Amino acid sequence: MDKKLLFIDCDPGVDDAAALLMAAAAPGVQILGLSAVAGNVPLERTLPNTLALAAFMGTEEVPVYAGASGPISGPAITAVHVHGEDGLRGHELPPHNLKAREETAWDALYREALAHPGEVTLLALGPLTNVAIAFAKHPRLPELLKEVVLMGGAAAVPGNVSPAAEFNILADPAAAEAVFRAGARVVVCPLDVTEKSYLTPEELEELAGQGSAQARYFATVMGETVPWCQEGYGVNGAILHDPAALMYVLQPGLFTGKKCWIGVETQGQVSRGKTVCDAFSDAKKEPNCTLVYDVDRPAFGRAVLDIMARS
Ligand code: BDR
Ligand code: CA
Repeated sequence: MDKKLLFIDCDPGVDDAAALLMAAAAPGVQILGLSAVAGNVPLERTLPNTLALAAFMGTEEVPVYAGASGPISGPAITAVHVHGEDGLRGHELPPHNLKAREETAWDALYREALAHPGEVTLLALGPLTNVAIAFAKHPRLPELLKEVVLMGGAAAVPGNVSPAAEFNILADPAAAEAVFRAGARVVVCPLDVTEKSYLTPEELEELAGQGSAQARYFATVMGETVPWCQEGYGVNGAILHDPAALMYVLQPGLFTGKKCWIGVETQGQVSRGKTVCDAFSDAKKEPNCTLVYDVDRPAFGRAVLDIMARS
């Protein structure tokens, strides 16, 4: 079986960490590179966290690249209230000797896409700054990528940072806008689907009992978010935003989506960062992406456990 070639751009972030641990354990996946972007915490934290995760995942050979330290425009925001000042809620990873490569995130992504035209899936788990810079600097890149699968936005549900906007889009709306306009094959996993992609307390317990250090780490850091998911979203479990986008890459059959047009509000007084989705209106604008909006939740939970059992 040919392996799925993945380049992952991330801002760890506890759910980014869970997604990376899953990606490393998943069968049939080759990770070509990992890149860090400022997001949940500043780049000074997301980059060391990505390096520590690469070592902990047992994928020391996968190169790690630094990306942007702030958005293309507007103020930087973080989510330390969720992920902690260190981005991993204080759950330190084992020491290692890995270092980031000299090459930038955007040049490395282009080089890999050129080497494997039409085969590389870019999984974008943070603000879209690195991706927008890559598309601006390398105009052939959108066409060279197989697809861009991103966690971001909110189609028919409220935002999670503001009433209108989801974190990854609000953190750099201009970058997100540029990505939707670039002509790439884009798959969007917004809050509509990621808030339905959770592990129940029973599943988290099963995960913790699987035995590997990676499964225990995943269960611990995500398990801590359960009270907050219960209170804020009425979900009895740990919401897995970034792992949901990875799962779409691995098992798209678990999800429901439709092609549609998405535009990003880059200026609004109260709606900055809103993803305006023409999924159901009469406008019927020319689609520029696939919107994923539903998931088979029990099958998703089972799949997470099956994948992590291989770690
Ligand atoms: C997204 O924002 C971050 O806090 C998470 O890592 C995820 O990528 C959810 O809105
Ligand atoms: Ca993230």
